[in-house]
Amino acid sequence: MRRAAGRAAFRAAAMTLPICLGDAWRQAAGRIERLDARLLLEHVCGCKQADLIAHPERALSEAQADRFEELLARRAAGEPFAYLVGSAWFCGLEFAVDPAVLIPRPETELLVDLAARRAATLDGPRILDLGTGSGIVAVTLARRFPQARVTAVDASAAALEVARANAARHGVAVRFLEGDWYAPLADERFDLIVSNPPYVADGDPHLSSNGLPFEPRDALSDGITGGDGLACIRRIVAAAPRHLKPGRCLLMEHGYDQAVEVRKLLAASGFSETASWRDGAGIWRVSGGRRPPGAE
Ligand SMILES: C[S@@+](CC[C@H](N)C(=O)[O-])C[C@H]1O[C@@H](n2cnc3c(N)ncnc32)[C@H](O)[C@@H]1O
Repeated sequence: MRRAAGRAAFRAAAMTLPICLGDAWRQAAGRIERLDARLLLEHVCGCKQADLIAHPERALSEAQADRFEELLARRAAGEPFAYLVGSAWFCGLEFAVDPAVLIPRPETELLVDLAARRAATLDGPRILDLGTGSGIVAVTLARRFPQARVTAVDASAAALEVARANAARHGVAVRFLEGDWYAPLADERFDLIVSNPPYVADGDPHLSSNGLPFEPRDALSDGITGGDGLACIRRIVAAAPRHLKPGRCLLMEHGYDQAVEVRKLLAASGFSETASWRDGAGIWRVSGGRRPPGAE
């Protein structure tokens, strides 16, 4: 009721007088979260919070008012903020995102930090990122380790387009390959394999809330390959020994309740030093293991 009234007021104001920053912000804050309203307004008008406060009387152009109304309506319908503005932050870097890729999650920074600790002990490591999506993991590692040779695989051509643009944006050379997990790699071996694969079980109720319906289903859920949430992880772990040099590590992000199962899978594939790590929210979020140094 309040939202509909806000929308009507915004339209009426925009149709009669040029709407000003202060009114646009106030009316939008009645329809979506106040912070989102401010950030969307700044995005559309190319201004900063200081401008909104110092010059609330500044008028939006007709094009800005139309664009703001369009984005407001999409946000009010649940579309994630990152898709509306076309970018998201990860590990202190801004990445382009669109609906072909998963929006970066803060918990994935744990995967990068753990990978970075291992990469730092290696000279010019060969790193493989499986299921690269927007390229956040591969690009961040390539930025931190200029001597590393980073390869990134994804099954989605559209996601790889976004990832390539992000590598160019951050000035790093990453080799991007399209295909099903290790399929494009023949017998290549790496010093470190990292992955944030789809790990939400098909039919999990979370898939229908919190903006997830707007994200690519193949990036979130392993429904196509098995559906219990562990299908992709099983495949990645099972074939990892063939693509990891002896003594090197595999690290994978996973769901809040999957750590024990993932460590069992790692052990069954011959990994030693299996372990899990908690993210900033205290959730066991990443597990990994080492290929025994004496392995063939
Ligand atoms: C959870 S998203 C992770 C994206 C990115 N690495 C991140 O952390 O934001 C999983 C990614 O795996 C990709 N993917 C799904 N199935 C795949 C497969 N069989 N082979 C390769 N990539 C796959 C999806 O397209 C998606 O980009």
